[in-house]
Amino acid sequence: MELLKQRILEAGSVVSDQVVKLDAILNHQVDPALIKEMGREFARRFVESSPTKVLTVESSGIPLSFAVASELGVPFIFARRKKSVTMGEDTYCERVPSFTKGIVTDIMVSSQYITANDRILIIDDIIANGDAARGLIRIVERSGAELVGVGIAVEKAFQAGGRAIREQGIRTESLVTITSLDQGNIVFAE
Ligand code: G4P
Ligand code: NA
Ligand code: NA
Repeated sequence: MELLKQRILEAGSVVSDQVVKLDAILNHQVDPALIKEMGREFARRFVESSPTKVLTVESSGIPLSFAVASELGVPFIFARRKKSVTMGEDTYCERVPSFTKGIVTDIMVSSQYITANDRILIIDDIIANGDAARGLIRIVERSGAELVGVGIAVEKAFQAGGRAIREQGIRTESLVTITSLDQGNIVFAE
């Protein structure tokens, strides 16, 4: 997606050869016009697989999932990282390590919002090692729903996340792929 590449080059900064900071558009401040375009692009790529719900993890996946779900005309669910008092006992909980925070966290989805009749599209903002996305995939598997695919805004191809999910036979679409962050330069795949 050319627009997203452009915006990443303008607004992004390289933190290390592993991490790109996108706080100006995606992870802290959010650019709604850009997010809407990204939502349209994901909807275009996945509409034919007829998702009934979009699934993400809080927090940065939320605006993007809203945009995708809004385009598709379906609800979206964000897995919570903290158990809410209103959340019932029937909860899918998966333990995932976090790449940027260096800690292990739980992600939780109430079982009432994903049923065996659902067709789930997982959306994530940035994929590194793919632990968060794999946690979501395990939740979908446990629910008995069909996983139609995984949509990632920014895939870092030098880390294994996207590749590992494709190797599971899951359709995985990235809007942009970063092949390197070496020496402060953001390099995209074709
Ligand atoms: P993974 O899903 O690919 O394994 O990534 P991991 O769990 O290791 O990532 C944990 C968090 O780090 C995620 O955000 C993910 O989006 C973020 N992340 C990974 N690589 C980068 C990067 O290069 N730049 C930035 N800005 N973030 C990165 P999170 O913990 O879910 O936090 P939140 O932003 O959703 O609140
Ligand atoms: Na994030
Ligand atoms: Na995320």
